[in-house]
Parts: sequence; structure tokens; C-alpha cells
Amino acid sequence: MKNNFLNLKDIHLNDLRAILNEALRIKDLRVNCLNGKKDEDKVLSDVITALIFEKPSTRTRFSFDVGIRQLGGETITSSSVDMHLGKNENVSDTAKVLSRYVDLVMLRTFDEKILFEFCEHSAVPVINGLTDQSHPCQVLADIFTYEEKRGSISGKKVTWAGDGNNVCNSYLEAAGKFGFNFCFYGPQVCLPDRSLIESAEKCGGKVLVTENPEEAFYNADLVVTDTWVSMHEIEKKQKREVFSAFQVTSKKMSLAKKDSIFLHCLPAHRGEEVTDEVIDGPNSQVFEAAENRLHVQKAIIKWVLKILNP
Ligand code: CP
Ligand code: NVA
Repeated sequence: MKNNFLNLKDIHLNDLRAILNEALRIKDLRVNCLNGKKDEDKVLSDVITALIFEKPSTRTRFSFDVGIRQLGGETITSSSVDMHLGKNENVSDTAKVLSRYVDLVMLRTFDEKILFEFCEHSAVPVINGLTDQSHPCQVLADIFTYEEKRGSISGKKVTWAGDGNNVCNSYLEAAGKFGFNFCFYGPQVCLPDRSLIESAEKCGGKVLVTENPEEAFYNADLVVTDTWVSMHEIEKKQKREVFSAFQVTSKKMSLAKKDSIFLHCLPAHRGEEVTDEVIDGPNSQVFEAAENRLHVQKAIIKWVLKILNP
């Protein structure tokens, strides 16, 4: 059976831990290396990967491409505009055909049903590069970043400020897996899926939903936010108005632990979901987390290709 990296809830904690350990090991090995230098083991020397984007991307596109080159592999990057995918050809036929050309696929798409259908018909492993419902590569890189700086995330208070969106959903899945307490601070009209809250709680993660900033930020270990309007949504002025009270500000951050970490998957809309003072402030690790996408995804690739032993 092939390993796919689709959603965190489907992957055993031991495997997620093995990915994080490998990411730490390979990050250490690259200190003072130029980004173009190949890793010693070049484990992807016979592997060609398709990177397919149905939505824009800066970090996911570059971090996967650079990571694969460092591992000695090759990539073909394509936007869906240049492909027949889902328009002139059904998803399953595209998946079957690509499986005959490449050894691995990373797909960024809209509804997760497209990803699941692609994966079902793909003979090669598939990695989720973001869907309307999830962004597991980002959240695993965030957890890596937190643990690299502060140690185990288990039992910690993670406060999510803003929209109950795809990144938030993957955090909820991670809360159940890694056993952290998740506080959702956002408007009641934009809550994450209730079933995700319930399954996080069933797996032992504690979930609190609040509109009260004191309750949300008090003693937080990690504070995370994201855009109020995601790529798949139609821009709505009203939505921004509803969210304006939930901006992450220095005043709110002062309620969190002194050594708390602030993260944002980026791209950030400075002055909307977060102030410059916070994103550029001493608690922010947003650029470290962006770098960590590279190291964590290299480890994810090794795991899906079964060249990583848990
Ligand atoms: N965080 C993230 O996935 O960024 P991109 O949309 O630039 O890939
Ligand atoms: N929630 C954002 C994440 C971007 C990386 C979006 O889907 O647009």
C-alpha cells in the first residue's frame, strides 16, 4: 500500500514524529550550506515529482521545488490552467496518466474531494499542498517550529485567532494527534467544522471556543492567525468588518506567556489579521516557519516514499 500525505488525522503519531525527527536532523546538516547544494544521500536521484497548483503559491511552490532539488530529484511544476485537469479531462484519468510519467505528486487544489479522487486513482504517492479544507504541510512545519524553539507542544495552549479555515482545520486535527489545547478565538459565524472539534476532543485534545480576548490569549504558548479571506473565497467587505475585532495586536499578545510564539502561514495582510508590531516583533517566528516548510516537506517526501524508518 502506498503512503500518502493527505490529512494529519490519517497519519499515525509515530509517523508524524518520525517526520519531525528527520526534519530536525536534515535541517542541522544544512547549516552554512548554499541552498543549491545537494544533500549527501541524494535519495531522490531516480525520482521525478509533479507539483500541481490550482491556486497561487509562493512558499509551497519554492519550498517543494528547492527541497526536491536538494534531495537530488527533479520536478515538473504546472498550474491547472496549463492542464486539462478537471475541465477537459476528469480527475481520475489525469491521475492515471501522470502516474505513468512521475513517481510522486504534490497537489494544491480546491475541494478536498478532488485531492481524494486524484489520490484514489494515482499509482504514485500524493501529498496535499493545501485544499479548501486543509493545509497539513503548513501545520506540521508550525509544530516543528514551535518544538524546535520551546520543546514539546503536548499540553500547551495554542490560540487560533480569526477564521475557522483550512489551516485552522489542520490545527484541530493536530490538537488531537499531539495532545495540545486548542483555543479558537473568532466570530461565531466562522467557526471551524463542529465534527473536527468533536474528533479533536475525542482524541484527547481540549478545545475552547471564545470571542473573549482575555480568555483566548491568557497564558497562550502559541498564537496563530491567517488571512480572513482565503483563496477559494469570494472577497467580501462584510467578512473583513466582522473580523476586525479579532486582529492580533501587541495588547492581546501581552496576555500570552512572555516566551509565547506567534505564527502565520503567510501571505499576511498586515494591518488586518495582525499588526506590523506583532508580526515583526520578538515573539514572531513566521520566517523561521516558512524556512521550516522546506525541511519538514523533505522529510514528508522521504516518508511517503518509504525511505524513512519510523
Ligand atoms: N503558507 C503557504 O502555503 O504559502 P503559499 O500559498 O505561498 O504556498
Ligand atoms: N487560508 C489561506 C492559506 C494560504 C496559505 C488560503 O487558503 O488562502
